[in-house]
Amino acid sequence: MRSALRLSSRRGCLPLLLAKAVLSTAAAVEVRRDRVDLLELSRKGEDFYQVQDSGWYCRLCPAGTYVAEHCKEQNGSSTCLPCEADGYVEYPSHFGRCLRCWTCREDQVELSPCNATRNTQCVCKNGTFCSPDHPCEMCQKCQSRCPSGQVKIAPCTPHSDLLCGPPTGSFSGSYMIVIVIIVALAAVLLLLLLWKRCCRHPAAGDSRDLGRKSGNVVHYLVLQLTRCWRGGLGTRDNIRNEHLSRDQERGLLPAVGAPSAPGLEEVVARTSDPSAKTQKILVPVPGEDPVILLRRSFHVFARDVPFKDWKRYGRALDLLENDLALAEMNDKYSQEPFFQMLNMWQNKQGMSASVNTLLEALHRIDLGGIAEDISSKLVQQGSFQYQPLKLSYG
Ligand SMILES: *[C@@H]1O[C@H](CO)[C@@H](O)[C@H](O)[C@H]1NC(C)=O
Ligand SMILES: *[C@@H]1O[C@H](CO)[C@@H](O)[C@H](O)[C@H]1NC(C)=O
Ligand SMILES: *[C@@H]1O[C@H](CO)[C@@H](O)[C@H](O)[C@H]1NC(C)=O
Repeated sequence: MRSALRLSSRRGCLPLLLAKAVLSTAAAVEVRRDRVDLLELSRKGEDFYQVQDSGWYCRLCPAGTYVAEHCKEQNGSSTCLPCEADGYVEYPSHFGRCLRCWTCREDQVELSPCNATRNTQCVCKNGTFCSPDHPCEMCQKCQSRCPSGQVKIAPCTPHSDLLCGPPTGSFSGSYMIVIVIIVALAAVLLLLLLWKRCCRHPAAGDSRDLGRKSGNVVHYLVLQLTRCWRGGLGTRDNIRNEHLSRDQERGLLPAVGAPSAPGLEEVVARTSDPSAKTQKILVPVPGEDPVILLRRSFHVFARDVPFKDWKRYGRALDLLENDLALAEMNDKYSQEPFFQMLNMWQNKQGMSASVNTLLEALHRIDLGGIAEDISSKLVQQGSFQYQPLKLSYG
């Protein structure tokens, strides 16, 4: 794929590619706008909850209270009672009791106590930290000092270790020398090229002509440079590209639309289109219970989606803040809240719960690369397979 990208841009198909990219991003924006509208619609119902096994809705109880008794009429107000001393509810809810306040662990200090609307806030003790990128099972000791030859760049905080680096003085000094050398070399090269293009053919015309030509040379150089730069960008998405090309080898990405072998740019435009990725639909392998396969996939999601993103992810899956609080209550320090969150989502979705919804939500919160990884893992594990693309175009 990487070489395909370069090839196509070398052959001057860039304008075509760009046009396609513009068209496909416009399509993606359109799709996203539809999704937002749907979300807005579902938000309207957030002030009410449905009483189980009955046709009617009741107003949610405000934060800091719980539902003591459901309302007795459509859209009525339930009886809400305030949380006891060791309980809290952060958002309007239909909880039958308040959530239990945390007590801070031994390696933490209490930043602020629990009250009716806010759980206890705990942070690591002085000199220790927990990175927000991982579940905090225990606070780790910060480095006490920087290694010799390095200086402190950022101090130890409850959320980050002491950060050390080379002293800034020598850093910028050596950098300056390198930059000066590069600039000088570039200037010499430019002069050489100018001389080659213009002055080797002195018969070509007068000085005005020469001026125009050197203008052309500069233009040419700028063009070459931007082309190199684009080539470099193309290699950045290395891993994803490799995934894509692997899929292509397996024949999982047949080019639709072109009757015979498509041009290179055809394939490139298709696979670099963000909405195309979401069209690569996974289906459970036949002969196994799809519900079990879906639940099994939760492990892969919990392992691969960064822990710090699990709430954002839950919101992208249309879960409410209260659902997330409930999930979190279970256990803050393992991957358990993540599983709870996915369980809740599955219960809400019922039979329509699909691994593709989980993957799409990742794309929506800009974790598309992780979604790609997860899909290929699920396929490798043999629990899911790609649906042939033609079907999804249906
Ligand atoms: C209850 O509330 C919903 C949403 O706010 C509204 O559509 C519906 O008409 C209300 N029903 C009654 C009986 O007030
Ligand atoms: C709970 O504490 C937070 C800050 O710690 C504060 O903003 C909030 O108003 C408090 N709520 C109540 C009900 O006291
Ligand atoms: C932590 O250290 C800082 C400065 O080193 C100090 O101001 C603060 O009081 C300490 N906090 C605790 C709980 O020891």
